[in-house]
Order: sequence, then structure tokens, then C-alpha cells
Amino acid sequence: MNIPVLRTVGEIRNLVRSWKQDGLRVGLVPTMGYLHQGHLALVQHGLRFCDRIVMSIFVNPTQFGPNEDFDRYPRDEHGDRAKAEEAGVSALFCPYLNEMYPAGAETYVSLDRLPHHLCGPLRPGHFRGVATICTKLFVAVEPDVAVFGEKDYQQAVIIKRLALDLLLPTRIETAPIVRESDGLAMSSRNVYLAPDERRRALCIVQALDQAELSVKRGEYDVRKIRLQIMALLNSANFQVDYVDFVHPDTLENEESIGSPTIVAIAGFIGKTRLIDNRLLIPPNPTDDQKRVW
Ligand code: PAJ
Repeated sequence: MNIPVLRTVGEIRNLVRSWKQDGLRVGLVPTMGYLHQGHLALVQHGLRFCDRIVMSIFVNPTQFGPNEDFDRYPRDEHGDRAKAEEAGVSALFCPYLNEMYPAGAETYVSLDRLPHHLCGPLRPGHFRGVATICTKLFVAVEPDVAVFGEKDYQQAVIIKRLALDLLLPTRIETAPIVRESDGLAMSSRNVYLAPDERRRALCIVQALDQAELSVKRGEYDVRKIRLQIMALLNSANFQVDYVDFVHPDTLENEESIGSPTIVAIAGFIGKTRLIDNRLLIPPNPTDDQKRVW
């Protein structure tokens, strides 16, 4: 038996409401499809708290810039359906464009500060698109829990803030980054990489490893760690968008690693934009400092 694929808000809402009437807890895993183990780990995470998982697959046009890859973003609904079912998803929500953006749509969700950091300035409008579609998905599906990956760290922080600010009844959960065996963070966009680019992309995880090692050895000066990292990235011909050290909640830049800090890296290998991040914990932080997520 194949899991159902629902395409309208009415259909998914009815299904979820019927589950809830039976006393079941429902989780949502929002995706843009072309599923990999990173997406499927979110399903496993959701199943820890929920009886049913809805996965949405929607390549959301409003979060892509005019020169970004909306048209060529990889799509494989048939393959995704099999993978989702295997992972324990109960229903797929693959809405039509005009279900999510009714004709004449002019209402958006945007945040004041969090989008000004990291990827925000380089991708104008991106987080407005993400915040808008996630809010719509929450309204359509009415999940008890929604699960996001720490791979897109800024996105996860923004969604948590949004859920709090808009008094949403959905609890936001995050799950750790899933990596290929050589360390590259899994991403639907990795299919764009030619073999040589795929090898060079490893510089990102090497840079994160380097940052972690430096902090372990007692180097807390962000400028010094950044210099080491930049040398590594440059030698792989990685075109850096940013190497930033930020506060885990506010995403404000930090000058030294006095408390747990996120190091986030973004940039291009050829035409493919990749991002990755890691939580840096200075040795012997207080228990309070460790409790970041
Ligand atoms: P997408 O890139 O398809 O990612 C869907 C979810 O999978 C996100 O929460 C993302 O953080 C998570 N994810 C991707 N790769 C991961 C990895 N290697 N390890 C752990 N989690 C990973 O992010 C989006 O789609 C969209 O912006 C969306 C939230 C669906 C809104 O359109």
C-alpha cells in the first residue's frame, strides 16, 4: 500500500483532524523534496514524539532569488514517496502552487532582526519566503510538532522565533546534521557537484573540524580561527560568502568563544552554494552554557 499524496489544504486538514480525533499526535516535516538521509532523520526524530508524520514536499518559489536555482532544483516525487513511506511517513502533502499562494496573494511573514545575519543579506527575501511558507504549512496541517534540521541553522532559529512570536500551538523540534561518510553535510544540492567539486567541497567540514580543534586547544580569538579556516577554504578554491561566529540564539557576531558559539560557513563550489555549521563549546563551560538547544 502506498502512502497517500494530498494536494489541497482541505484534504490534509481533514486527514490530520481525523487522526487527532482518534487521540493521535501529529508531526510535520517540511521539505522541498529530493529526499536524502538528512530529511529522513527528521522523520525518525518526529516519530519520537508523534504517532503520525506528515511530510510536505513543496519547492517554494518565494524563497528563491531571481538568479537562484528554482527552475533546476532537483525533483523526484515518485522516488520521494517510496523513501518517505519506508521512513515511516503516514502522508505526503504536495500542494499545488495556488493552494499555498492563492491568486492575488500579498501577505507575507517577516522577522525584524534574525534575517539580518548569516545568509540573510546575501539572499534578500529568502527568509521572508521561508517564514511565510512555514507559517502557511503550520496553518494548513495544524501539527502538534514540526521538525527542522540544524543543517539550516538560521532557518531553524527563525522558525522557533516565529512560532513563539505568533503564539503557534506547534512545538518546534530540531535534529542534528546528517553527513555523508566523508563528512560532507547531506544536501539535495550535492547532486549538482561534479566529481572534482565534490572532493573540494570537503574543505567545509575540514574547516569546521579545524575550528573545533582550535577551540579545544584553547584558541578563543575569532579573528585567528577565521584566518586558519580561510586558508583552508581558499586552498580548495571555495568562494566564501561568509565564515561567521555567532551567538546560538540571537545570531549576533561574537569576537571570542567565551560561551557556546555557532561557526557557520557558506559559499560556492563552482555554481553550487553550500552551507554548514557547528556548535563550538569552549572547554569546561558551565552547565547553563551547555544548554543551548
Ligand atoms: P530542504 O532543503 O528540503 O530541507 C528540509 C529540512 O531538512 C530542513 O529542516 C533542513 O534543515 C533539513 N535538512 C536538510 N539537510 C539536512 C542534513 N544534512 N541533516 C539534517 N537535516 C537536514 O529547508 C527547506 O527545505 C525549506 O527551506 C523548507 C523549510 C521546506 C521551507 O520551504
